Amino acid sequence: MTKQNIYIIGIESSCDDTAASVMYNGKILSNVVANQKIHEEFGGVVPELASRAHQQNIVPVVTQALAKAKIKKEQLNAIAFTRGPGLMGSLLVGTSFAKSLAFGLNIPLIDVNHMQAHILAHFIDEEGFNKPPFPFLAMTISGGHTQIVKVNHYFDMQVIGETIDDAVGEAFDKSGKILGLGYPAGPEIDKLAKLGNPKAFKFTKPKVDGLNFSFSGLKTAILYFIQKETKTNPDFVYENLNDICASIQFTIIGILIDKLKLASKTTGIKHIAIGGGVSANSGIRQALKDGEQKFGWTTYVPKFEFTTDNAAMIAIVGYLKYLEGDFSEQDITASARLKI
Ligand code: KG4
Ligand code: ZN
Repeated sequence: MTKQNIYIIGIESSCDDTAASVMYNGKILSNVVANQKIHEEFGGVVPELASRAHQQNIVPVVTQALAKAKIKKEQLNAIAFTRGPGLMGSLLVGTSFAKSLAFGLNIPLIDVNHMQAHILAHFIDEEGFNKPPFPFLAMTISGGHTQIVKVNHYFDMQVIGETIDDAVGEAFDKSGKILGLGYPAGPEIDKLAKLGNPKAFKFTKPKVDGLNFSFSGLKTAILYFIQKETKTNPDFVYENLNDICASIQFTIIGILIDKLKLASKTTGIKHIAIGGGVSANSGIRQALKDGEQKFGWTTYVPKFEFTTDNAAMIAIVGYLKYLEGDFSEQDITASARLKI
């Protein structure tokens, strides 16, 4: 089998975005994402609505990804898809679609772990972005996940720390909900935080041993703080919104950086990569840059479109597995709690 001129399509449907991306020899030719706006009015992802929207979106999204890449489906060498982790109903749509497409075209099917994909997104060929050398530490921070992973090689990874309750994105979103902000609140908090004083209000950081995280206590502390302050001043949130946002963001970033420092110290690894939707946060990006000066880190932040849920990261894992001849059988099933 020739390993040159390889076209792979990646299909992602683990949560609320339906995505497809065509990759040619490690380079992205198209990266299409259909966001599901329907969840905004509910303040969070509604699984049943998500799977129905995936069913409506998947054919147009795949068709568009092929059209943008200017190739026909018959030119594809393999189909890569997200097997898990994620919402079962959503995963099933992508999994069954990918299986039928691979079967119909009689080409290899490649299952992808979504969490590995967030990390391996750093290996997409992209001008101006360096690939981290092995071993490196990867911190995936999103609305569904918070993990620190020691990456020894593409498929040799070890989770060394993770959240024991809420994900960091949830901490942003739930805090925003308390403040009356829309969903998802992360980008809004980021924007308002730039105008506020990060030391205006102090929230205690959770005490969690080792490299694990906890964010549910912070959310409760913020709730009680706001309830207490609004009792004496009903306009407290309105009058102090920028400072509250800056203080919340400062606390969350402090928690993340503390754990990264500990992870770097215990493993001796100074190459640090981040991924997931929360890595768009300007405060965390700045804190990583500061870490380069203060701790001698080299940090890696992927292009924005490869940090949030996307199919390009699924395609790159598909490509790497294709090179190793690591294919799936047709009887493979989706796995909602798939681990790294
Ligand atoms: O990776 P993602 O798009 O979806 C998954 O959760 O898988 O991440 C979405 C999360 C949301 O919680 C959102 O509030 C958060 O990322 N987020 C941010 C920012 N942009 C997105 N959080 C803080 N600052 C941001 N700039
Ligand atoms: Zn994700």
